[in-house]
Amino acid sequence: ETHLHWHRMRHGHLVMPLFAPEHARADLLQEAKMLPALMLSEEELQWVHTLAEGWASPLQGFMTENQYLQSLHYEHIFVGGEWVPMPVPIVKSCSSEDKARIAGQKRIALQGPDGEVVALLFSPEVYEHRKEERAARTFGITAAGHPYIDMIMSAGDWLVGGRVQVLRPIVYNDGMDQYRLTPLQLRAKFQELGADAVFAFQLRNPVHNGHALLMQDTAEKLKEKGFKRPVLWLSPLGGWTKDDDVPLSVRMEQHRAIIKNGVFGDTPVVLAIFPSPMLYAGPREVQWHAYARLQGGASHYIVGRDPAGMKHPAKDDDIYQMWHGQKMLQMSPGLQQMKLLPFNFASYDEKAGKMAFFDPRRKEDFVSISGSKMRKLAREGKTPPPGFMDPEGWSILVKYYQSLAAQ
Ligand code: ADX
Repeated sequence: ETHLHWHRMRHGHLVMPLFAPEHARADLLQEAKMLPALMLSEEELQWVHTLAEGWASPLQGFMTENQYLQSLHYEHIFVGGEWVPMPVPIVKSCSSEDKARIAGQKRIALQGPDGEVVALLFSPEVYEHRKEERAARTFGITAAGHPYIDMIMSAGDWLVGGRVQVLRPIVYNDGMDQYRLTPLQLRAKFQELGADAVFAFQLRNPVHNGHALLMQDTAEKLKEKGFKRPVLWLSPLGGWTKDDDVPLSVRMEQHRAIIKNGVFGDTPVVLAIFPSPMLYAGPREVQWHAYARLQGGASHYIVGRDPAGMKHPAKDDDIYQMWHGQKMLQMSPGLQQMKLLPFNFASYDEKAGKMAFFDPRRKEDFVSISGSKMRKLAREGKTPPPGFMDPEGWSILVKYYQSLAAQ
């Protein structure tokens, strides 16, 4: 395929989708009915989706124990004589009863939360789910109240690894499936747009003008460097997020509004949902976010303040130092093919009446509008200072937060 070839020339790693050939799916689904089955949680189904489309290639399924150890300790997996970034465990849990049921099987079926078979898993390898250790190594903390750690702690006592073959397309029927482009579709799209640079922006929040500033600034910098047609890939995370994050459907509406209203000027924008769940694992996770975008055809990756971070569940402080994610990412041994674009803190400049890069020489002019401040304003139907966010984008958030308050 031409786009595959195109990408192979630009980047080292190949995208390997895990879907069974279409003509074989009906028979395989029939056979799968006879096999012992494991149920996928919603989050595990999102990993199947992510794996299926090749975002985590060359990983071909849920991690085996060796791959898990490589990921936990080296933040890479070793495939075909090469270490490839794989900083977060992509694992599936099961109970002791499940373990007994699947012992010695050559193939098992994986069912979605709705009971439908989605995939096959070959030669399952079952190993101990050392939950505290997994949490400690992934997040650097084990505190209850961290939403992903809570999910780990309530999962089964075993992990099941093995190659996965996916038997049906993964769709959500939520009106947003057309925005779920696979890495191969994205590469084809970037090529079709004539992109000579693709700069990715990972996000899980609504876009305010501080975020927009990072993207606008990138487009300018790339043009100064001689790129003729830099394309912005706006890549909202679409999988599981914590309860107080803004739901995907609202974010997508907000993103569509700001694009329509010209926040990115004449820069072509590709808006597409990234199917991965969120971990809130800070520096470890930002490596996953960047690697997956490399797989999807990004040449450049924006990274700002405290990527993939959150407040410590037991302290009034962020879990991670706000610049560690960015510093560490720039030194990443496995992401050399990607140009990283580090950015300073963007904050509201009261003197200029707009979002601007923080200037330590005139600290007093800047006010930080945090997520919680934004939520409060929106709930109360107040308007943020002018220039904080595109007004239509803001009204979409107001509508959402007021609907929450009315419940
Ligand atoms: S994340 O979990 O996807 O990283 P978020 O949507 O908040 O969260 O951030 C998306 C990107 O914007 C990340 O690269 C983050 O570092 C960056 N970012 C968010 N807010 C700011 C800010 N005020 N100043 C600079 N960079 C920021």
